[in-house]
Amino acid sequence: MPKQKKTEGPVKKKAAGIQEKENVHEGPVPGPAPLPPKAAIDVRHVVLVLSGKGGVGKSTVSVNLAYALANAGKQVGLLDLDIHGPNIPKMLGIENERPAVLDKAIEPVHVTGNLSVMSMAFLLPDTSTPVIWRGPMKMGAIQQFLSEVNWGSLDYLVVDLPARHR
Ligand SMILES: Nc1ncnc2c1ncn2[C@@H]1O[C@H](COP(=O)(O)OP(=O)(O)OP(=O)(O)O)[C@@H](O)[C@H]1O
Ligand SMILES: [Mg+2]
Repeated sequence: MPKQKKTEGPVKKKAAGIQEKENVHEGPVPGPAPLPPKAAIDVRHVVLVLSGKGGVGKSTVSVNLAYALANAGKQVGLLDLDIHGPNIPKMLGIENERPAVLDKAIEPVHVTGNLSVMSMAFLLPDTSTPVIWRGPMKMGAIQQFLSEVNWGSLDYLVVDLPARHR
């Protein structure tokens, strides 16, 4: 008799577990995770330059697009989010520049009066240092680039992204 009681316990628990799981599905259908809050950047157009493959010309397009828009008189920000191999500053010849910090806000590097750049390369000790970013650090850096950089009022923010599989 006590033997029977022993087997009843776990079986009951298991049954209860299944019941709990079923109850979850009875409520509102779970949707996709909510989007993170919008970054407080005063910008009219955001242009994301991305591709699944590496070395196809994303950074070249980003730099030329940003430069052309700035030449056309627009206020442009260029954000280099390729944090594994940021090369935008090198392409613009500003790799030795560093962003200034003013009143807790990061001042991007101003290439011209209406073209400013922010890149992970500015935060590295030297350009040959490999960066191994783990997930949370990566998100922290990106969030900082979006929320703590004093972009000012922008017509365009051009974002150079890393290849998908890296
Ligand atoms: N339209 C083009 N025609 C020929 N070569 C190009 C063109 N655009 C870019 N390149 C060359 O291709 C190489 C890769 O370009 P780029 O660095 O812009 O690519 P990427 O997609 O940003 O690479 P990564 O994925 O490594 O960031 C560079 O040597 C660049 O000069
Ligand atoms: Mg690139």
